[in-house]
Amino acid sequence: MDRRTFITSASLGALAIGRFPSSGNNAKVIQRDFSLTGPRFRYTVPGLARPGNVLFISDTHLWRTDEREDAYRQYSDRMAGAYNQTQHVITHEHTTPEESFEASLAYGREKGVDLVVLGGDIFSFPSEAAIEWTVARLEAAGLPYVYTAGNHDWHYEGMASPVAELREKWSARRLRPLYRGDDPLMSYRDVNGVRFIVLDNSTYEITPEQLEFFRIHVRSGGPCFLVVHIPLYTPGRPVSFGCGHPEWGAASDRNHEIERRERWPEGGHTSTTLAFHEAVFDTPNLLGILAGHTHTASLDLFRGIPQVVASPNASGGYIHLELV
Ligand SMILES: [Fe+2]
Repeated sequence: MDRRTFITSASLGALAIGRFPSSGNNAKVIQRDFSLTGPRFRYTVPGLARPGNVLFISDTHLWRTDEREDAYRQYSDRMAGAYNQTQHVITHEHTTPEESFEASLAYGREKGVDLVVLGGDIFSFPSEAAIEWTVARLEAAGLPYVYTAGNHDWHYEGMASPVAELREKWSARRLRPLYRGDDPLMSYRDVNGVRFIVLDNSTYEITPEQLEFFRIHVRSGGPCFLVVHIPLYTPGRPVSFGCGHPEWGAASDRNHEIERRERWPEGGHTSTTLAFHEAVFDTPNLLGILAGHTHTASLDLFRGIPQVVASPNASGGYIHLELV
């Protein structure tokens, strides 16, 4: 039987969960032993050569602009005002996205993390000033990083194009420095023998090429994590856990008017996205999923695979994944 647990940021603490059975897949299921204590996700990885540390950051919602943005303010004004000041998830003191981002990188340096994963919505819109500021901070930190976009990073509200076209256009024009040669839609990094498969699902959909990429990278049988911005659907969750949600579609799209974007499709998800969802939760060597998007820390356990969603980095949130 599938087991599923979810907790909010208010109740994250000293949770320890042991091994769970697979959902009938006959392949050998990798041992999944982990604990989650606040932002610290400690995972015992069988056969790990040496310990590793990964810092996952999402939903910083940086919004810095300069005169280069003037021509685009009709498309970015709403989001530019959305996260000017935030409240820290732990101290409850006032903070800002920039302060939180810098504090997170300082934490990463202090811990000597092997990889920083930037999991989307690092920006509220593709402002050149914000992107330059971020790249400079990342270079100064000197930590290896990988970036994937969220649904806001490339979005100028009110631009009348399909979301996949907006993503392609603004990823190429503005976000490119963050990819450093990676394919914006799919990449991977290895940390001490653990593979992090990073896929852009910021349109809520997965392309056939991404599905194939996922299949190729898990085929080795080695331990893997999946990184996406939008969490994958688990039973009982709302459409914000929208990647693979059976109710995702035009009828459940409450925000297309306020976000001034293309409405979700009448027919719901593509068959590829649904096949991807099935493939992920049927992967015996998948240790877990890291995601953002909902702005609420949570843990779901579905078919024995944990999906951890980070608190928003705009409010100081992150996930520190310790591989031991
Ligand atoms: Fe966000």
